[in-house]
Amino acid sequence: MTTSREIHLAARPHGWPTAETFRLVPVEVPDPGPGQVVIHNQFMSVDPYMRGRMNDVPSYAPPYKIGEVMYGGAVGEVVESNDPGLPVGRTVLHNAGWREYAVIDAAWATPIDPAAVPTVSAYLGALGMPGLTAYVGLLDMAAFQPGDTVFVSGAAGAVGSMVGQIAKARGAARVIGSAGSAAKVSHLHQLGFDAAFNYKDGPVMAQLAQAAPDGISVYFDNVGTDHLEAALNSLVPFGRVALCGAISGYNATEPPAAPRNLGMAVGKRLTLRGFIVSDHFDRRDAFLAETGEWIRTGQVQVNETIVDGLEKAPEAFLGMLAGANTGKMLVRVED
Ligand SMILES: NC(=O)c1ccc[n+]([C@@H]2O[C@H](COP(=O)([O-])OP(=O)(O)OC[C@H]3O[C@@H](n4cnc5c(N)ncnc54)[C@H](OP(=O)(O)O)[C@@H]3O)[C@@H](O)[C@H]2O)c1
Repeated sequence: MTTSREIHLAARPHGWPTAETFRLVPVEVPDPGPGQVVIHNQFMSVDPYMRGRMNDVPSYAPPYKIGEVMYGGAVGEVVESNDPGLPVGRTVLHNAGWREYAVIDAAWATPIDPAAVPTVSAYLGALGMPGLTAYVGLLDMAAFQPGDTVFVSGAAGAVGSMVGQIAKARGAARVIGSAGSAAKVSHLHQLGFDAAFNYKDGPVMAQLAQAAPDGISVYFDNVGTDHLEAALNSLVPFGRVALCGAISGYNATEPPAAPRNLGMAVGKRLTLRGFIVSDHFDRRDAFLAETGEWIRTGQVQVNETIVDGLEKAPEAFLGMLAGANTGKMLVRVED
């Protein structure tokens, strides 16, 4: 029998998770049942939404259970198969991350083509859920048009870096990003952003107003609070906002102090639209075709921060929440 290791939720965090939130557990890998496959994971994703699933509160997805293995996006190779449609050796994308080996129904694994990408991990980032989130949020939710001036917060992260690059590739007049360090600001310039600022350098409202003297027509919100307040101030009449996430509050124990100027949405006739990417998987083919081509031609860069070893997954997750990543934060489970 094969031995595997997996990470369980040990306790529900109040505020920031800690090392005690997680437990690394050795397990025996069970034999696959009829129609099942055993997958040896190569990469797993750590994502902000996982923080929400640690809370036992009603949400669009059920919470993780204490004492059980966590889950999330992963890419791995089929090493045992009871499904003729998914033979040994195929590389697949699936949702049984946070473990070295996964035994799942073949129907829950999506075959991917390793030859089509520089690294299979791209299917967890630029060509995966975060990339699709950027694509749908910008093009469908914020109804992006060529000539728009786009502001994106969390701009150096998995979703944000794709929002900025897709906006440029689709003909934005100007793309502005905010991020949490000088190194990330330089990275945004290198990705082709027209302007970028470090939100820790001073009030977001003043920095955004300086970067966008004529205002913004689209805001892609990954952060919430002071960033949303600043964007409401800078949006031009009939501006559009994609409400994608509000990471500044995910570990907060008090309600946010901002935005205090939501009333501006009335006078400016703004559209603010929240969305969840899983409602938009019908856009995956269009997204893969268009973004895949931009990546092949070099118009869009794939950026990742990779942490090695399943046992480091909690560290990678906490690091991502604190801004340790540039591009998509991933864990290399096995070469
Ligand atoms: N609606 C959906 O379906 C959907 C799907 C995927 C993701 N999302 C959301 O999209 C956002 C980005 O997700 P991602 O996967 O791309 O993560 P990410 O941006 O790769 O990583 C999270 C980043 O958030 C930034 N951050 C943390 N605390 C912050 C704060 N207080 N203020 C400003 N920035 C802060 C950090 O960068 P800095 O160094 O710049 O602070 C960190 O690197 C999140 O809000 C997430 O929940 C939504």
